[in-house]
Amino acid sequence: MKGIILAGGAGSRLYPLTLVASKQLQPVYDKPMVYYPLSTLIENGVREFCLISTPQDLPKFAQLLGDGKKWGISIEYREQAKPAGIAQAFLIAESFVGKEAVTLILGDNIFYGADTFRKAFAEFQSGATIFGYHVHDPERYGVVEFDAQGQALSIEEKPKNPKSNYAVPGLYIYDNDVLDITRNLKPSPRGELEITDVNVAYLKRGNLRVHRLSRGFAWLDAGTSSSLHDASAYVQTIEKRQGIKIGCPEEAAYRAGFLSLAELQELAGKIPNCEYHDYLNQFVAEIKRQQS
Ligand code: TTP
Repeated sequence: MKGIILAGGAGSRLYPLTLVASKQLQPVYDKPMVYYPLSTLIENGVREFCLISTPQDLPKFAQLLGDGKKWGISIEYREQAKPAGIAQAFLIAESFVGKEAVTLILGDNIFYGADTFRKAFAEFQSGATIFGYHVHDPERYGVVEFDAQGQALSIEEKPKNPKSNYAVPGLYIYDNDVLDITRNLKPSPRGELEITDVNVAYLKRGNLRVHRLSRGFAWLDAGTSSSLHDASAYVQTIEKRQGIKIGCPEEAAYRAGFLSLAELQELAGKIPNCEYHDYLNQFVAEIKRQQS
């Protein structure tokens, strides 16, 4: 399965932070925001990536992430000239997706928690799989309505009167039909190719699965100064308490089997002396202890 990371947009709510670096390059506690969605997909076995961003920011992402080889993955880069909608990503990345299934993650979405994604990725065969997450302010998102059996009945984009509290997070899995569906989409009244319209098309075909994410799962959105600060505080709290890192691509690549332990150790050795370097070394030592 191919992976798209969408990391463009205006980031206007983070002004003036976003004058020099886009939202997804801002730090969330101890690493750049884009590390989190990248690690989420790596953990779930995605190995080939296309990162889409604005013409100004794309070179900075390339500087940060490179071609992905050091993590045992590949990353290519494509421009989105204007923020004309999340679904436009499929048109931009059409030749990258080819004939495969594809997952799209938004570059400012941070997930942490149970194994729900692993199951969804492992079970995915065709159609579309999206997720539902209980929030207090569903009107800001795409909202799913469920029937008594838990089947999705409707999905509405930013409804004034939401039919449920379940918002759709920025991680979507589609079969190759998504390319055809997107080609036939018309821009919405706000002038965007809407991801909600893609999901509605799958719903109409009877081909949409919506997994509800459990209460213990964290989905953080880092689009405003306050939520960016909250996301940092959350990551810091978990990392300090558990002695683990969230959103560490090196560790994710090892766990996914894309890097051997020797390769991970070599990689850690190239990182300057810092807490991140110490963490990876400790991680390697811990695995070695478990293996001996
Ligand atoms: P938003 O948070 O809706 O928009 P934004 O990032 O431009 O921020 P603001 O509202 O403060 O101006 O976008 C959600 C994510 O999707 C974010 O990571 C940016 C990305 N995105 C694109 O890359 N291209 C697009 O055309 C759109 C609509 C969003």
